[in-house]
Formats: sequence, C-alpha cells, structure tokens
Amino acid sequence: MTRTPVNVTVTGAAGQIGYALLFRIASGHLLGPDVPVNLRLLEIPQGLKAAEGTAMELDDCAFPLLRGIEITDDANKAFAGANVALLVGARPRTKGMERGDLLSANGGIFKPQGKAINDNAADDIKVLVVGNPANTNALIAQAAAPDVPAERFTAMTRLDHNRAISQLAAKTGAAVSDIKKLTIWGNHSATQYPDIFHAEVAGKNAAELVNDEAWLADTFIPTVAKRGAAIIEARGASSAASAANAAIDHVHTWVNGTAAGDWTSMGIPSDGSYGVPEGIISSFPVTTKDGKYEIVQGLDINEFSRARIDASVKELTEERDAVRELGLI
Ligand code: NAD
Ligand code: LMR
Repeated sequence: MTRTPVNVTVTGAAGQIGYALLFRIASGHLLGPDVPVNLRLLEIPQGLKAAEGTAMELDDCAFPLLRGIEITDDANKAFAGANVALLVGARPRTKGMERGDLLSANGGIFKPQGKAINDNAADDIKVLVVGNPANTNALIAQAAAPDVPAERFTAMTRLDHNRAISQLAAKTGAAVSDIKKLTIWGNHSATQYPDIFHAEVAGKNAAELVNDEAWLADTFIPTVAKRGAAIIEARGASSAASAANAAIDHVHTWVNGTAAGDWTSMGIPSDGSYGVPEGIISSFPVTTKDGKYEIVQGLDINEFSRARIDASVKELTEERDAVRELGLI
C-alpha cells in the first residue's frame, strides 16, 4: 500500500539541532520506517542559504522515504498542510538580556508561528516546541492558535528524561533499557524535577534500590537539571545531537505509543492534575496510544517530590504571568 506522505515542518532548520534532526526525519526515525515524509524548512532570510545547503545534502542521501523538501522564510507557507511541526528556531539569550527581553523576543517568533499553524496546518497537527524557553514558547504558540486543540502543543522535556535515565543507569549499573517509569516534572529549566520514586530498575523500585537521599538531592537532581549548562560549558554550544535525538523520541512516542509497563515525560498543557494550574505547559508522566497522550494518574507524591514540583511549577506560572503582561498570550 502506498502511504500519503506526512508533512513535517522544521523551524530553525539551518541551526545545529536542525542539522542533526533532518537526516533522521528523512530516514524514517521520526514516524516509522514505512512512512514517507515531505519536509518544510522554515528559516529567517539569513538562514535560507545554509538551509539550501542542507537540502542539497538531504538530496544526496537519496532517502527512499523523502518525497520533497521546501525551504521558505514565510511561516504561512511552511505550515501549510503541516501534520507535524518541530519548532526549533528561537532567539537565544545573549549577554545583558533580562528574562523579560528573552520572553518578548521569543514572543515575536512563537506568536506569529502559532497563528500560522492555526491558519494553515492540517487538522491533525502535532506541535513540539524545542526552542527555549520551550514550555513558555509553547504556551505562546498555543494561545495564538485558538482553532487547534490546546493539547496538540507540547514542549520538549524528553532530553531531560533521557539524561535522567542515563544517570540512573550509571548509578545502579543497570542497562538503560531496564529503566522504566521515570518522570520529569515542571519546566525545561534548572528547576525541573527528575523523579525516581516511581521509577523501576529491572523491576525494582529505583528510590529503594538507590536508598540514598543525599545522592538524589545533591548529585542526581542537579546533574540532570544543569546538564544543558554543563554541555554548553564543555562544547561551547548547546546540546544539538542529543536534543535532536530527544525530539525524534518525543514525536515517535507520541505517534507510535509508549511500551506496556512504561511511560515517558512530555511538556503538555496542564488539566489541573497533581495540583499543576490548568493551562500552563508543564512536564508530566504520560502514556501515549493512537497518537494521543494521557497523564499517568494516581501517583503518590511524597513531601520531597511535592516541594520540587511546586518550585518548578511556580517558575512556570511566573513565566506565564510575564508573557501575559507583555500581551503575548
Ligand atoms: P542555533 O542557533 O544553531 O539554530 C537556531 C536556528 O533558528 C538558526 O538557524 C536561526 O536562523 C533560526 N531561527 C531563528 N529565528 C527563527 C524564526 N523566527 N523562524 C525560523 N528560524 C529561526 O540553535 P540550536 O542549537 O539549533 O538550538 C535551537 C533552540 O533549541 C535554542 O533555543 C536552544 O536553547 C534550544 N534547545 C532546547 C533543548 C530542549 O531540551 N528543549 C535542548 C537543546 C537546545
Ligand atoms: C539543554 O538542555 O541542553 C538546552 O536547553 C540548553 C540551552 O540553554 O540551550
């Protein structure tokens, strides 16, 4: 059976993450080995030439699943008929920039992109925001797209999730594939809370197995939460291949489902679960099936976790209030 190609739009396509992402989308890792794709690359005018160079390389790979590539600096064209949108391009924080300046500069990107998605994307559009501050950028885009169901706008915390799995595997000597049910709560920022109280290592409860609250509080949580900064310090640039890999994982899991007995972490509009204010885009434990996700309910949240979830959620509500004040939502 010949399948209709899926239209995948990538913004910031000429950037570092874009370069690590596009070849994997085109080779079938995003959606599956039998799903053809059309790529739409959105860049600012200064990025178009480099995007054209990447498109030449994509052609040179002769990927059987890649049916077409369009490059544009017009968001309405880039999102026309889009089924999946990966919003990667963002305004980085530069020296002397206050948080309000950063939110305002990104509002200038994500508000019009949200509107362009609203006006042009396919009915089944799924959006992943990678560009930082990812959760609040996703909120801005979502607010500008009133005709798209809010739950289609998600923010990436899968890189944090993968980082936490890797750290826990190293601590316990387990294989990463033995680790299940890990959760990232809150914001993709240094306040995020990687939670191992419900996680399993080869079927055993991870927190009981580790049995070391000092390691949890003073090593594990800060290592995961500050990993992005540590990569920038080491590489002189922010994570790119691991971020692209996490974006692939996020969408692949959303579309193709979580494995039985496991869950993943996604930044999604809160429905009020676990005391997280409705509407903010916060990371939760979710299962996915048939292209839809559901928050894992009924987890017992201990005091240690409650304080950390609340701190990250507080930061998200402050970011929401700031963008509201700026008229961005
Ligand atoms: P980069 O600077 O290499 O690339 C960004 C690209 O976006 C550039 O080519 C730029 O021209 C383009 N761009 C800027 N504004 C645009 C717009 N309005 N429309 C389309 N394209 C636009 O950056 P990168 O390393 O690829 O990182 C991209 C973003 O992802 C950054 O915000 C970074 O902080 C973030 N990030 C998030 C995570 C996460 O886990 N959520 C992880 C790593 C990086
Ligand atoms: C990461 O987690 O690696 C990035 O979000 C860091 C950054 O600020 O780009």
